[in-house]
Amino acid sequence: GSGVVRRDRFSGGPARGFMSSLAADERIFAADLAVDRAHVVMLAEQGIVADDVAGEILAALDGIESAGHSALPDGEDVHEAIETAVVDRIGSDGGKMHTARSRNDEVAACIRYRLREDLLGAIEATVALREALSAVAAEHVDTVMPGYTHLQPAQPTTVAHFLLSYESAAARDTARLLDAYDRTNRSPLGAAAFAGTPFDVDRHRTAELLGFEGVIENSMDASAGRDFLAESTAALAIHATTLSGLAEDLVLFANKGYVDLADAYSSTSSIMPQKVNPDTLELVRAVAGDAVGGLTGLLTTLKGLPRAYNRDLQRATPHAWETVDAVSEAAAVAAGAVGSAEWPTETLAEAAGAGFSTATGVADALAMAGVPFRTAHEVLAEAAERSEGETPTVATLDEVAADVLGASLFEYVRREDVAAALDPAESVRSRDSPGGPAPEAVASQLDAADVGID
Ligand code: ARG
Repeated sequence: GSGVVRRDRFSGGPARGFMSSLAADERIFAADLAVDRAHVVMLAEQGIVADDVAGEILAALDGIESAGHSALPDGEDVHEAIETAVVDRIGSDGGKMHTARSRNDEVAACIRYRLREDLLGAIEATVALREALSAVAAEHVDTVMPGYTHLQPAQPTTVAHFLLSYESAAARDTARLLDAYDRTNRSPLGAAAFAGTPFDVDRHRTAELLGFEGVIENSMDASAGRDFLAESTAALAIHATTLSGLAEDLVLFANKGYVDLADAYSSTSSIMPQKVNPDTLELVRAVAGDAVGGLTGLLTTLKGLPRAYNRDLQRATPHAWETVDAVSEAAAVAAGAVGSAEWPTETLAEAAGAGFSTATGVADALAMAGVPFRTAHEVLAEAAERSEGETPTVATLDEVAADVLGASLFEYVRREDVAAALDPAESVRSRDSPGGPAPEAVASQLDAADVGID
């Protein structure tokens, strides 16, 4: 100590532990030091604090940084503890650090500063996942597999088309996170408690020193607004939802032997020696629960809060940290699982035609020959029934055509075209509409995903 007499502002009481965010604030320790430095530099540049005092404060902050968060004195939060530590090191002049600000604009700046970094981490994770999806897709443009609706075999597709469906969704997730980043990346500093300050502060200077893209103008909004937290957490929860769908598909495919997950992403049973379980993907699937929980906790905390600062906000912040950590990790794990999985081509090809999944293609062939699609649908539905849901023979199809259309099937379509429509690989090749699964349609989707087929 410097022998300075100070009032111990955090004497606490029975609620001392309940009120303090000091432990949770470890997350923004570095951010608070950066915010303190920018503020002090601005105060000196504006002539609000003398240069030599500013120099002493900055030196004290360096010492506090080296000592680390765990060496901080007790306090209601990291902001108070760092200020106490500065005063402990240099005496009462340390108290000039808090000129023209409040913990309200300070904490908002710290959260934005730290969240920026975390959002970049999450964005990188979504990009890595997209790269993994695109790279594997590029290898499997011709790998025919069953496609499902209602979990029932529906129409044959390809592994590339399936994976790129998630790449597209993840690309929008990246864009949403970048939007959230843009609105997070604004400085609230200079708002003080909420009502501004009589000091001639340069808000744009502190924003610039901290790398923020401008300021949050209205000082009440700047200190109390947390919609950037809600938006970021919502974008993360949406990405977690994308991840959970991908994980669920892979769990189901692993169950059917349609995908082989790498050992590194599987787990064994402690009792059943034969088991290889897709545990990592089950955990990825579960992270949507964490993320939706985080978003719900956050929005429920924010809902109905009056202007301006209320202490409730202290409990809003950790929801965002927990969400960004869980979702970034899940995205990274999903990328690893996708990148290392094998797709057994023959098993998939065999499964692709199961459950008369080519029925729509045969109906399309009849419709192309001029039969109204609804009538063609009737022919194929009847054929499916007669063959008990399995692929009918061409003879059965012809029989049904005679009954429903009153004419031979081959009055409409050539025998070889029927055979082609019944072949899953041919069926996929014929569906070359934009965005469809045919290899040339998938090639432009791969281009859009910025991955070429080598
Ligand atoms: N620890 C508080 C928070 O996270 C920050 C400071 C504002 N505290 C106050 N009593 N005005 O929101």
